[in-house]
Amino acid sequence: MSDNTLLQLMANPIVECMLDALDEGIVIVDRECRIVFYNKTLSRLEGLEKKDVIGKILPKVFPSITLAESTLWKVMNTGETIYERVQGYVNYRGRQIKSVNTTIPLYDGSQIIGALEVSRDVSQVVNLTEKVTELQKTLSKTTRRGKAAFSFSDIIGCNEKISEIIQLLRKVSHTTSSVLIYGETGTGKELFAQSLHSESPRCHKPFIAQNCAALPETLLESILFGANKGSFTGAADKAGLFEQADGGTVLLDEINSMGLALQAKILRVLQEGAVRRLGGNEDIPIDIRFIATTNENPLELVKKGRLREDLFYRLNVICVEVPPLRERKDDLLLLCQYFINKYNLRFHKKVIGMKPQVQAIFEEYSWPGNVRELEHVIEGLLNFADSGLLSVDQLKLLSFGAFQTFIEQKKTEPGDQNIFKQESQLAEKQAIIEAMKLCCGNVSRAAQHLEIRRQTLQYRLKKHGILNPRS
Ligand SMILES: Nc1ncnc2c1ncn2[C@@H]1O[C@H](COP(=O)(O)OP(=O)(O)OP(=O)(O)O)[C@@H](O)[C@H]1O
Ligand SMILES: [Mg+2]
Repeated sequence: MSDNTLLQLMANPIVECMLDALDEGIVIVDRECRIVFYNKTLSRLEGLEKKDVIGKILPKVFPSITLAESTLWKVMNTGETIYERVQGYVNYRGRQIKSVNTTIPLYDGSQIIGALEVSRDVSQVVNLTEKVTELQKTLSKTTRRGKAAFSFSDIIGCNEKISEIIQLLRKVSHTTSSVLIYGETGTGKELFAQSLHSESPRCHKPFIAQNCAALPETLLESILFGANKGSFTGAADKAGLFEQADGGTVLLDEINSMGLALQAKILRVLQEGAVRRLGGNEDIPIDIRFIATTNENPLELVKKGRLREDLFYRLNVICVEVPPLRERKDDLLLLCQYFINKYNLRFHKKVIGMKPQVQAIFEEYSWPGNVRELEHVIEGLLNFADSGLLSVDQLKLLSFGAFQTFIEQKKTEPGDQNIFKQESQLAEKQAIIEAMKLCCGNVSRAAQHLEIRRQTLQYRLKKHGILNPRS
């Protein structure tokens, strides 16, 4: 590919149409740094018209950037790609822009004939990040003054494995070793992490949890590491969460969702006990206890190349596997009663427990969402029940995904074993007894009261074995 073919390729309307349709801005320059392609997205981002830039050399279009400073020029001279470089500038329309750029040299065989730059506009996300960082700061202040939300005494359960985990975590709470907690969603991983912090000598220092799946990599990095003036997160110097958590505990939640490049940087923090802000050049010492959680088997993650082996060994000094609820059904009743009490208080209700049929259904169900799902089901049920025992009829009113499907299946089960049919039979028997009492055993009047035919009531009295004191 010569300079000429580069020009020909860029003049192809199909290529132009494809590149214009991208969400990323694209600029391509030839060996002399002359712009040969400039897509619509970049034109919007920079506030420049295509026709005003095509064919011009870079310093003519952007007089504030010298050739030596230009990343496009740099990659043509070094032959090396520059990945995800953060850039902040004011565009031609006066708008503050923050973008993440990757710049790639273009080769014709072994000869460099130009360069391409891909720009992702992150201005809005950066604003959001700043808000998140501020909120996290406020949160950490609250935690610092008060105490972490949970302690071991809040963990409900007498299952052997759960008791062993609590015992182990209590023991290691006084050290600084990293802890890896592995378990399915909703098993209580965060509860254990918070309890560990509450029990530790760090309990008066911050406990900061950051979900690694919630944010794009570059933002997560700036939130964790902070940034110095002029870099990604704007004008002022900002401490990241690691600095804010100094002396305390950081929970890296869902570490399995973190990209490998950031994992390498986390490893460095763990090994060196220091952080370097984005755009900064000094190492800031920090004293943090790290806890990480994953809802996938960490060894499998290492095998699949999604968790760096070196980071795994560094985090896995103490490893805890929280069993799913279906493997600790011995805790089910205890947890149910705990959540019933919790929502009685919250909703001003007087539910005292649940009927054996409800208990049987709960024991049979596999609880894929674990304790969190159980809590939501009980909360839902306490919306319908005011007092007494929770019944299977109330279960039918719930509208939860997997649990609802399970209930639907149970409702269609054939035969006398069907708990729902049993319950409606019981309800029918109760209604007939009440009606007969009310009508002093007069079958005709009771039938009228129940709005059924007299013969039907006779049949049902016999079926349920209800004796009429009058006969
Ligand atoms: N043993 C327990 N006793 C009381 N509440 C519990 C217990 N286990 C979990 N919970 C409650 O269940 C909910 C989910 O717990 P938590 O957030 O710790 O789960 P998780 O394992 O971190 O889930 P995810 O992987 O989805 O983040 C919380 O409301 C928590 O208080
Ligand atoms: Mg969690």
